[in-house]
Amino acid sequence: MKRAIIIGATSGIGREVARLLAKEGWKVGIAGRRKELLQSLQGEFPDGQVESTVLDVTSPDAPTRLQELIDRLGGMDLYFHSSGIGFQNATLDPEIEMRTARTNGEGFVRMVTCAFNYFKAHASREHSGHIAVISSIAGTKGIGVAPAYSATKRFQNTYIQALTQLARMQHLPIHFTDIRPGFVATDLLRDARYPLLMKAEPVARDIVHALHHRRRIRIIDWRYRLLVFFWRLIPRPIWERLKVTNG
Ligand SMILES: NC(=O)c1ccc[n+]([C@@H]2O[C@H](COP(=O)([O-])OP(=O)(O)OC[C@H]3O[C@@H](n4cnc5c(N)ncnc54)[C@H](OP(=O)(O)O)[C@@H]3O)[C@@H](O)[C@H]2O)c1
Repeated sequence: MKRAIIIGATSGIGREVARLLAKEGWKVGIAGRRKELLQSLQGEFPDGQVESTVLDVTSPDAPTRLQELIDRLGGMDLYFHSSGIGFQNATLDPEIEMRTARTNGEGFVRMVTCAFNYFKAHASREHSGHIAVISSIAGTKGIGVAPAYSATKRFQNTYIQALTQLARMQHLPIHFTDIRPGFVATDLLRDARYPLLMKAEPVARDIVHALHHRRRIRIIDWRYRLLVFFWRLIPRPIWERLKVTNG
């Protein structure tokens, strides 16, 4: 039985991915800060199939919690990082910017380095490891109303690319998937109205498909693939003069 750890499984996309993997028969370890939501997901499956732990990625003890969860599953084949926060912050409240950087930057590095080092120690030619992260299409360019969010998502894109190269340099059998969704109707978008909104469940199905096929980068969905293609072509001087607002 394959074993997946999903950090950020209490709500939204991570919760749906956890549910789909468990339905496929994976043994799943779920984590996040809200215990009751972890327990309710656990309760949907037979005893022992889903393990959980309360963990805050901004806390230095998170790697210890992760290792305990891995031990309870009897190992890890897939590390899936869905934890993240995001806000529109046109007033540039520094506390919001720093909280976002701590969660999506520092917390992300804390957890992903731990997963990388686990696979470095345990993966083999017959038994490879897989690290997947939900970043965002927001990393494509700096977004004026969400500076820390767009910058930390770009950071995640670059970090995963760096780890992919590092794993190859060190001949480590680790696969990487960077998932970049457009707008998804989850708690994260509670602060405004957004266009081209997708539901979390079909997005999760697309993600699981990408994981099975070990896609390196997956932009979800096709409309956003098109949008990102053209978005990238906008020259910097024009982008920096655009007014980008939502809903
Ligand atoms: N919704 C979108 O439009 C969209 C688009 C592109 C990318 N994404 C990315 O998708 C990922 C999942 O977001 P979502 O849309 O599913 O939103 P969500 O429902 O708010 O889920 C966010 C998850 O992150 C966890 N989390 C937040 N801070 C944490 C912390 N300090 N420690 C541990 N876990 C933490 C939350 O759990 P607790 O609060 O229980 O800790 C929750 O499970 C995020 O990285 C987000 O940036 C979302």
